[in-house]
Amino acid sequence: MNSGQPTPGDAVTLINGQVNALAAAKSAMVQRMKSASAGFFTVPDRGTDLRAAERLAKTVSKRAKTLVVLGIGGSDLGARAIIRACGVSGKGMDVRFLESGADPDELASLLTTIDLNKTALNVVSKSGDTMEPLANFLILREKLVKAVGAKRAAERIVVTTDPEKGALREIAHREGYATLDVPTDVGGRWCALTSVGLFPAACARVPVRKLLAGAAAVRDAWLATDATEDSAMAFAALHHHLSTAQNRRVTVLMPYQSVLRDFALWFRQLWAESLGKDGQGFTPVAALGPADQHSQLQLWNDGPHDAVITLLSVARPRADFKVPRAYADLAAVKRLGGHRLGAISRIGFEATMKTLASHGRPHGILEIPAITPESVGGLMMHFMIATAGTAQLMGIDAYDQPGVEEGKRFIREALER
Ligand code: PA5
Repeated sequence: MNSGQPTPGDAVTLINGQVNALAAAKSAMVQRMKSASAGFFTVPDRGTDLRAAERLAKTVSKRAKTLVVLGIGGSDLGARAIIRACGVSGKGMDVRFLESGADPDELASLLTTIDLNKTALNVVSKSGDTMEPLANFLILREKLVKAVGAKRAAERIVVTTDPEKGALREIAHREGYATLDVPTDVGGRWCALTSVGLFPAACARVPVRKLLAGAAAVRDAWLATDATEDSAMAFAALHHHLSTAQNRRVTVLMPYQSVLRDFALWFRQLWAESLGKDGQGFTPVAALGPADQHSQLQLWNDGPHDAVITLLSVARPRADFKVPRAYADLAAVKRLGGHRLGAISRIGFEATMKTLASHGRPHGILEIPAITPESVGGLMMHFMIATAGTAQLMGIDAYDQPGVEEGKRFIREALER
């Protein structure tokens, strides 16, 4: 973490100042892991859920070409992040999501781009009762039945929900739909690596075992490393320190690859919903470089001193292009000639760090070697540990969401009236 002027102190100083708090936070987290009250830690080891998701993905892939996933919040952001980053083989099903959740125009536009005769549905809701996915599901199921008949529709519907409770579980039971369990000890936004994310990812032919291997490796490294030397705990310590000591409560995550944009949106929910409690919390910003260098950077450099910015960098892009040499008489064009596009993006990235430093704005870099299922699974585990660690330092419960639940209750009451 680089802070420029005035300096809030470098990472080592900050972390050393929090040695005891960090060690205590880590041991409380380990306790929660062992007592199964923070199930996300052990998700990568759950072979039964993995095999069930893989098996069903294989079956459904034979029956349909498109999979429409109907979930909201933690029930779709993780799957979207994984598939956008890793679903690049072009061999799997075409997996679609509804961005808004309950937008008739969006649904209408989805229906113009899919062939119901070749479509399967995956409705995802941990509670099984959430209005938006249920409403979309009832509409699309009716259309699917009309298109292919009740029997074939039933063979193409997968319900991902609580193992026992909720309306969706009951519907699946009555109609004989295939089901996948959302583990009861893993909360909504912590579910990306459970069947919630694994099934759609496997349908898109993402090698889901590699995702889990990457997550397990990060978790195991965290377990084996002193809290003061672990990068997820450093992220937690720095954000906690900069919020309490300097009132910096805006957290920016800025990848430089557009396929990581949904990853930043996944992080945004995790960070907002887990930490926004008891009058505390951070406002997460899902940014994208270099686009936001030409958009939000002005605010971060010259606006209020309230943000901590993490640039997410990828050392090796999947593809690259050389800019042709042309117009040697025009300096702005000539200087680009012969450079690779990846190198130009990197130069922009370094310029962003330099200018943030020169304005005294705290920022850090998280670099992965390449975007692979392993690195994406690892990044997910990294940010889940960082979020849990920050909550621990703040003294709040990262795993509930009373503010969201109240909104859901108001919706239920309004619908019943
Ligand atoms: O993190 C959470 O618990 C929430 O964001 C939920 O994921 C979201 O409200 C959807 O809930 P459900 O999966 O029960 O439909």
